[in-house]
Amino acid sequence: MSVILVTGGTGLVGRAIQHVIETEPESSRFGKRSGETWIFASSSEGDLRDPAQTRKLFEKYKPTHVIHLAALVGGLFKNMKYKATFLRDNTLINDNVLHTSYETNVKKLISCLSTCVFPDKVTYPLDETKIHLGLPHESNFGYAHAKRMVDVANHAYKDQYGCNFTSAIPTNVFGPHDNFDLEDSHVIPGLLHKCYLAKKNGTPFVVSGTGKPLRQFIYSRDLAKLFIWQLREYDDVEPVILSVGEDEEVSIKQVADSIVKAVGFSGEYSFDTARADGQFRKPASNKKLLDLMGGFEFTPFDQALEETAQWFLQNYDNARTGKVPSA
Ligand SMILES: NC(=O)c1ccc[n+]([C@@H]2O[C@H](COP(=O)([O-])OP(=O)(O)OC[C@H]3O[C@@H](n4cnc5c(N)ncnc54)[C@H](OP(=O)(O)O)[C@@H]3O)[C@@H](O)[C@H]2O)c1
Repeated sequence: MSVILVTGGTGLVGRAIQHVIETEPESSRFGKRSGETWIFASSSEGDLRDPAQTRKLFEKYKPTHVIHLAALVGGLFKNMKYKATFLRDNTLINDNVLHTSYETNVKKLISCLSTCVFPDKVTYPLDETKIHLGLPHESNFGYAHAKRMVDVANHAYKDQYGCNFTSAIPTNVFGPHDNFDLEDSHVIPGLLHKCYLAKKNGTPFVVSGTGKPLRQFIYSRDLAKLFIWQLREYDDVEPVILSVGEDEEVSIKQVADSIVKAVGFSGEYSFDTARADGQFRKPASNKKLLDLMGGFEFTPFDQALEETAQWFLQNYDNARTGKVPSA
């Protein structure tokens, strides 16, 4: 019998794992298996910054396996403004989850890192061996250092106690249940929301920057399958980058074009080239992942974006949009 506790189970990635577990054929590679109980925990079940609340959550569910997604997550602006909070909250959350997993004999723990952990100055493509080769970008060094330390802790817990702890490094994630807040979201949910409002209000849809930078986006439901694979089939402390291939980079213009199409926007659409572009590209290699898995079929970007847009349009009133819900 296995009890799999997903911390941060109510966020973008957690909801996607829940969707895959509930919709893939039972006992298939990614479907629910007999004897498995999946728990998707939100912060309302326990604030993982607090050791006593973490302990209580683990005592309640007695997990044998943990997928640890819970984190203070935010866009660039929030990361730049609240570096100490990002460092401290995420350090506390990670320390509590790792140490409680050790104390309660969890058989396996996968923690979620991010490509932000990589050094700012590094040779591309990023791969799993390069995490500690230099300082992360200063814009999010609080978040990045807290996440990096999970890899250090995984090795320490393995060496000292023999724990089966590891980590996953996703690239940019998008999908249903994302954070669509206009002020504090990632590029896809932010642009989707902006385009939706432009259509609704009959105003122009203006994309910040030239649209030329390239990014690797992974659909949350594909990422969910990769987490389930890692949980069941990967037993090594070293992290695995969970991403589409370098040949599947998409430009911000392609993203915006797909959003215009998915939302059905036909008004004025332009790029504000006076706004900063950010890094042109920061490709990550998924070679280790594909070698280990023996291949994986990613959802085509346009299809994943269409599904995300439809979810957003159908769930606008309940989605995380930053608006105050009407009474
Ligand atoms: N989104 C991306 O593009 C991206 C890329 C790379 C890596 N990641 C990583 O993927 C993981 C999941 O991210 P996400 O995008 O799914 O985030 P998200 O949608 O913001 O969800 C965050 C989750 O963490 C929970 N949480 C936050 N603070 C908590 C606390 N103090 N105690 C307990 N639970 C807490 C939230 O609970 P409530 O719902 O109750 O608030 C929510 O379930 C994170 O570790 C993140 O660093 C994300």
